[in-house]
Amino acid sequence: MVLKEYRPQFGRRLVLYGLAVSLLCLGLTACFEPIKDTHPDQVLTKRRALFKQYTRAMEPIGLIASGRKEFKQDELLAMVQDLEKLSTKPWVYFPADGNYPPTHAKPAVWSEPDAFKKAQEMYQVSVHELLLAAQGGKLESVQRAVDAVTNSCKACHKNFRYE
Ligand code: HEC
Repeated sequence: MVLKEYRPQFGRRLVLYGLAVSLLCLGLTACFEPIKDTHPDQVLTKRRALFKQYTRAMEPIGLIASGRKEFKQDELLAMVQDLEKLSTKPWVYFPADGNYPPTHAKPAVWSEPDAFKKAQEMYQVSVHELLLAAQGGKLESVQRAVDAVTNSCKACHKNFRYE
């Protein structure tokens, strides 16, 4: 049968093809691999991971505020509680020796620690107010509180993070 004769060759081709794809993938991962975190406690990696969680946690909350996701009070409450738990977390990962590449943090984080602390507190207050609004259950208050949270993310980034 014709098919029988072709099979081994097809098999070999598949192996070669697989090999080529794996090599390509290896090359690509090498290109996209982030610069090694040189700090013994990996503080840059840790704070970045937490900020990514900020974005992930805010996403569904934003969808509810903009009316693109149904407003169910218990679901929103759970989301905002997660956000509040996160709100105290990244700051310990900005130690005195934590300013090194490829950070996007501005030197002001270290040169103006009081202002940086203030920005954290204002953010935490805004998240707490969002929690109260979620408990209150009025979409309009939730929307206002979500805007305030987003604005305090932006306010801190403006002063303490390069775009
Ligand atoms: C008190 C200051 C402050 C607040 C509040 C803040 N951030 Fe940031 N954020 C920073 C700093 C500083 C960096 C830069 C970290 C670095 O590169 O070392 C950062 C980085 C990030 C990053 C990039 C992470 C990465 O992979 O490099 C994201 C995304 C982010 N923040 C989202 C948010 C969101 C969303 C909020 C609000 C819900 C928020 N941040 C609130 C200071 C803040």
